[in-house]
Amino acid sequence: MALRQIVQIGEPVLRKKSKKVEKIDKKIIQLLDDMADTMYDADGVGLAAPQVGILKRVVIIDIGDGLIELINPEIIETSGEQTDSEGCLSVAGRSGEVTRPYLVKVRALNREGQVIEIEGEDLLARAFCHEIDHLEGILFVDKIED
Ligand code: CO
Repeated sequence: MALRQIVQIGEPVLRKKSKKVEKIDKKIIQLLDDMADTMYDADGVGLAAPQVGILKRVVIIDIGDGLIELINPEIIETSGEQTDSEGCLSVAGRSGEVTRPYLVKVRALNREGQVIEIEGEDLLARAFCHEIDHLEGILFVDKIED
């Protein structure tokens, strides 16, 4: 088990665009493992690599239905709309209402380098959008409705 430090809002790394993973090597596998340890330790439902200071397009999510690992994720389809409260491990102690699509389909690579497609509704759709935003340097606080 290896925990990494979760970067907090204000750190420039959270505002940068992450780079595509060109090769799934030992470092990427270690990153995935460490991110899972870190997310579960912090009781989070998702974590993106920039949140541990790594500008790579790597995301993990677990909304309670098992761990999802996404490398180079892309949103390929969305539909509907939902507005609900959102938070982030990098924005401790703050939450706010954000509108997201109700259904989101994502294409990514798994740790074996295989192309996977996953469709998520509701909270999972929200998590896909939130975590993929991190790879663009976007935080949920940018999207809070008042
Ligand atoms: Co977040």
